[in-house]
Amino acid sequence: MEQTPKAGIQKDAPFGTLPDGKTADLYTLRNASGMEVKITNYGGTIVSWTAPDKDGKYEDIVLGCDSLGGYLKGVPYFGALIGRYGNRIGKGKFTLDGKTYTLATNNGPNALHGGKVGFDKVLWDATPVEGEEPSLKLTYVSKDGEEGYPGTLTTEVTYQLKNDNSLQISYKATTDKPTVVNLTNHTYFNLTGGVKRDILDHEVTLYADKLVPVDKGLIPTGELKPVAGTPFDFNTSTKIGARINDSSDVQIKYGLGYDHCWVLKESKDSLKHVATVYEPTSGRVLDTYTTEPAVQFYTGNFLDGTITGKNGIVYKHRYGFCLETEHYPDAPNKPSFPSTVLRPGETYATTTVYKFSTKK
Ligand code: BGC
Repeated sequence: MEQTPKAGIQKDAPFGTLPDGKTADLYTLRNASGMEVKITNYGGTIVSWTAPDKDGKYEDIVLGCDSLGGYLKGVPYFGALIGRYGNRIGKGKFTLDGKTYTLATNNGPNALHGGKVGFDKVLWDATPVEGEEPSLKLTYVSKDGEEGYPGTLTTEVTYQLKNDNSLQISYKATTDKPTVVNLTNHTYFNLTGGVKRDILDHEVTLYADKLVPVDKGLIPTGELKPVAGTPFDFNTSTKIGARINDSSDVQIKYGLGYDHCWVLKESKDSLKHVATVYEPTSGRVLDTYTTEPAVQFYTGNFLDGTITGKNGIVYKHRYGFCLETEHYPDAPNKPSFPSTVLRPGETYATTTVYKFSTKK
């Protein structure tokens, strides 16, 4: 009889070698019900993640590459940790305490996801923490001035796989100079299992009444807009594809679909419910919770079939969706947005949970 491997964490064969000769490692976390998450310390990237369908069949539900080489060729942040700043900072500039900082720009005139060499492209120090609900602790010290950001930022991210089929991601950071920080994870989910088709039939509920509208360059205008009566209202479960091409809505036009930050409803719980995503053919359900005020819901509008991922699967238009929990984009330039400033003596601490279940 086949033996179910025990819950815990193991270090696999090396994932690959970086141009500087350093080795990227790969770890497998496994819980008591058989869910498996593989994470490399290159970019703190979730490489694969299995979840059961309604018949108990475990399949991979994230986009990624078979080896480090695939990531080094350049991928749009598949599964990676994002820092120092998730999403865009307009013109790659901001002023803090009267001093203007110029960041590395990598998205037209703007800084996106931390710049040219963001936290998705660095090697993190990894410490496996054994247990029934195993963890992988990753640390990275970003130097003062790295990608233009002030202050030495000491960052710690812990992935913990729980027996209720959830993965908890805890982010922490401290600084030695005033700075800004907005960390997230950029996993592309596809709940069909093994990435069988695009995500347009996935049914989404987003617990949010307001959107952060953007301009043509995807920089927030500074206002907040009610979603009621627009293709951005997901308060009732709706197929992603139902309104995604409704370009009579200027926000859909600018985002080429959904590529926006939704402001989450207030909650008395510290972990707010972000979204419920249901994939009808597999019966898989993903619930997301966070301490963050917002989420960037991105529907893989820039995927175009030029990247071949794990198991030779070509990632075509809208083959994955992301739920990037975060503070609002460009908050360092928008005084009315919740602050992303971190000062010496303070600890940045946020938590996000992705939890799987099924529905017949
Ligand atoms: C951004 C997109 C960007 C993507 C990178 C998302 O978080 O909002 O505009 O293209 O990340 O793949």
